[in-house]
Amino acid sequence: MGKTLILYYSKTGNNAMVAKQLSHDLAADLIAIRPRLDKLPLILLGCSMGISPINVPLADYQQLVICGPIWMGKLLAPIKQAAKQCRAIGKISMLSCCGSDERHQDGKFGYNPVFAQLKQLLPTAQFQGFALPVSLLLKPEQRDDQEAVMNARVDQDSFHGEFGTQYQRILHALT
Ligand SMILES: Cc1cc2nc3c(=O)[nH]c(=O)nc-3n(C[C@H](O)[C@H](O)[C@H](O)COP(=O)(O)O)c2cc1C
Repeated sequence: MGKTLILYYSKTGNNAMVAKQLSHDLAADLIAIRPRLDKLPLILLGCSMGISPINVPLADYQQLVICGPIWMGKLLAPIKQAAKQCRAIGKISMLSCCGSDERHQDGKFGYNPVFAQLKQLLPTAQFQGFALPVSLLLKPEQRDDQEAVMNARVDQDSFHGEFGTQYQRILHALT
């Protein structure tokens, strides 16, 4: 497969944990996406004043994985900006550890519209979107509890159970 770069944006740590695990499992380089203004309301409005430069030779990589959350059904500006900078990489994926699950994947707050938007920005790349719903950390009867979903946090012990099984499927597809 060649060299893989993983970029991640994370506010409450979930996508950072997933990105770190993935970088370990794929022996990939890992870099945080750093918006110049990292404030949730501004990012939701698309006003993050750009991101800090991604200081690696991008031509060295054959695969890029961007890990990041979805907020309010949006493709977040820092993720969009990072993807645009890296658009020449042949194979690009977004892995989102997000609040929505497959029941709501096509809805207003679901992950599929976000993946479709990102794919449109990357017409020459082979693009795939992967969702790792944080609700898989919860018991099935808790998964409709929005507060429990919002408060679910990934840690080192999370890569078991249904969350771990879904993570392994994604890992396999990226290998
Ligand atoms: C303000 C806000 C809005 C959110 N909106 C969505 C959404 O529209 N769709 C979704 O799947 N998850 C949504 N989530 C859940 C996050 O995507 C989820 O908690 C994610 O794991 C957080 O990632 P992080 O810890 O890396 O920042 C939202 C979270 C917040 C804080």
